Amino acid sequence: MSIENDFALIKDFDQNYCLQVFSLLPVAFVKGKGCYLYDTEGKKYLDMIGGIAVNCLGYGNPKLASAISQQAKNIIHACNYYYIPQKSELAYRLCRASFADKVFFCNSGAEANEAAIKLARSYFYYKDVNRYEIITADMSFHGRTMGTIAATGQAKFSRPFEPSVPGFVHVPYNDIEALIDAVNPHTAAIMLELVQGESGVHPADKEYIQAVKKLCVEKGILLIFDEVQTGVGRTGKMFCYQNFGVTPDIMTLAKGLGGGVPIGAMLCTDQVATGFRVGDHGSTFGGNPLACAASIAVMEEFEEKGIIDNVQEVSSELFEKLNKLRTKYNCIRSVRGMGLLIGIEFDDTITAQGMREQLLAMGFLVSAIGKSVIRLAPPLILTKDQAGKFVKALDKILKNVSGPKNVFDKIKDALPTKNQVKHSASRITSAKIDRLDELDLPDSKPDADEEDD
Ligand SMILES: Cc1ncc(COP(=O)(O)O)c(C=O)c1O
Repeated sequence: MSIENDFALIKDFDQNYCLQVFSLLPVAFVKGKGCYLYDTEGKKYLDMIGGIAVNCLGYGNPKLASAISQQAKNIIHACNYYYIPQKSELAYRLCRASFADKVFFCNSGAEANEAAIKLARSYFYYKDVNRYEIITADMSFHGRTMGTIAATGQAKFSRPFEPSVPGFVHVPYNDIEALIDAVNPHTAAIMLELVQGESGVHPADKEYIQAVKKLCVEKGILLIFDEVQTGVGRTGKMFCYQNFGVTPDIMTLAKGLGGGVPIGAMLCTDQVATGFRVGDHGSTFGGNPLACAASIAVMEEFEEKGIIDNVQEVSSELFEKLNKLRTKYNCIRSVRGMGLLIGIEFDDTITAQGMREQLLAMGFLVSAIGKSVIRLAPPLILTKDQAGKFVKALDKILKNVSGPKNVFDKIKDALPTKNQVKHSASRITSAKIDRLDELDLPDSKPDADEEDD
């Protein structure tokens, strides 16, 4: 049985058989090429969110596909009783490209952060020093495991699962005084994102990060950068910390690392690596040949195709064009971010959800964060031309946001009321989208629907 092209059945099976923890848009993708995705109806979309900063090489990259298929025909999984050539090579490549001396491989960002948290604690345990507390930032996001929701500085992620794992303190982001005040003799580590991606794309100030590093050195505190979202070229350097002129003791990666194949990594210095001894940590799948072969192919493509240069060039043009839109339309409050991780914040005349739906109707994929921010995290192979198409589409939509009853008011009218939505007020239902289709939306002919680039 294949249900691949039957959207009604796909949706029905999902709703009946998958745990309903996601708010899904009414679309399923069955084909991808470069920066484009195609749904069950054959409609084409320019992917400006890249599987949430994962699909760094886009879709159907020949080198990545060939590395995965070659490896799949040979050994997919060995195990951690034996040396794994692909794991050894990837660790070498990551250390060569970064501050790190040692790598631990796992399967996701949350797992990489769990490893970092455990290492920070065990590092002091083996030194016989009573330091265990980890300071993180308000509005941070570090994952969905029990440890990482405790690390995350947003109570909504941990409240239903209390009591929380103890030993985490949260302070305002970009506020060095608050951080200094929070440090105490039990502080083991400070853990930060360099751009807070999940809470609205908020970059750290360079002076703040440099002051944090100084504080860590002075007080003997470990510095952990969560680069799950910002790592692997996303911000125009291989790793985001390279934009800040400081190095951490520990860094975590996932998302783009495998170009779509699940893999996470925790990197650290030799000194900090002494905190893990044989048996202290592990993972059945971590460092498996398939994921490591994929990641090696990603790193090779970065070198051969000049991916980081592309991020820098496309990013600066995209920022320039988006900032022009900002001066043209008062409803754009800010355009912020680094490289190809960009947040566009609107005032209360525009809902992020409405904008995401408008863009979807026009053939562009973005994510909505909270009420007012849309996030862009496209494949890092995005071209200037494709970026220009996105800006044009946004311009078209914003042009129509004028007059007493603009399209966003119409979208709000079309949305079910709170009571009509059973599980969550923000849940997107297909009914909602069906009703949107009936609206007179600004030219919803897919702009992305042109020849493949
Ligand atoms: C900064 C950051 N850390 C950790 C995570 C968790 O990663 P994963 O979903 O792979 O567990 C995310 C995911 O969005 C993230 O953005």
